[in-house]
Amino acid sequence: MIHTRVIVVKNPDEMGKAAADLFETAIAAKPACVIGLATGSTPLPLYRELIAREKAGKIDFSRVRSANLDEYKGLAPDHPQSYRKFMQENLFDHISIKPENTIVPLGLAEDIPAMCQAYEDQIEDWGGVDLQLLGIGHDGHIGFNEPEDTFPGMTHEVKLTDMTIDANKRFFDSIDDVPKAAVTMGIGTIMAAKKIVMVVTGADKKEILRKTFWGPVDPQVPSSILQFHPDVTLICDEAAYPF
Ligand code: GLP
Repeated sequence: MIHTRVIVVKNPDEMGKAAADLFETAIAAKPACVIGLATGSTPLPLYRELIAREKAGKIDFSRVRSANLDEYKGLAPDHPQSYRKFMQENLFDHISIKPENTIVPLGLAEDIPAMCQAYEDQIEDWGGVDLQLLGIGHDGHIGFNEPEDTFPGMTHEVKLTDMTIDANKRFFDSIDDVPKAAVTMGIGTIMAAKKIVMVVTGADKKEILRKTFWGPVDPQVPSSILQFHPDVTLICDEAAYPF
């Protein structure tokens, strides 16, 4: 682990504040910056903090652009479990970001490869991601990049593993309702971000966190590629910190 800065905080709320500091700094330095956003339960304290800080006049999202990591294949943007809906409800509807400045992959696209290329092109037109937020799955997936024999490059369609389907079934009525595929930024897309902040909380993430930053770089642990990124900040709580 050469480049990673590690910040260990007491609990998820403190994680939210520490991560919000990075976003506040990035947006103050570049009001039209491009942020990469993530779903899952882990970022929720951060999103609450960002909403509070804009209300308190500390952050201005009106010129910020955002690109989300991933979306379930086959879910419409207004489906209750879609990641677009998650972002609207947990962040976008409560801040001044302009709707046209938020992008989430389109799970319903008929031509998925063309949509993926357009997604990459949009990020490139914006000048690339300045600050990318990541959570982590129990198998080391980032976005929906699951363990594979090689690190996938750009935005693409993926088949979800049984472990991920099982972990995400809590959001659906039954496991059969969980989509079996998704569209995700690739490892290459993620690694092209200028800065990355990974947030990890809870004892159930301790082992995968150890493998990510203190184990070998291995596509079977997709998150381990982050050891090769020059500017990663890991913010984890005491429960998740492996030492
Ligand atoms: C999903 C998302 C990931 C996220 C992961 C962990 O699979 N695609 O981006 O990191 O869930 O979610 P949680 O934070 O709820 O553990």
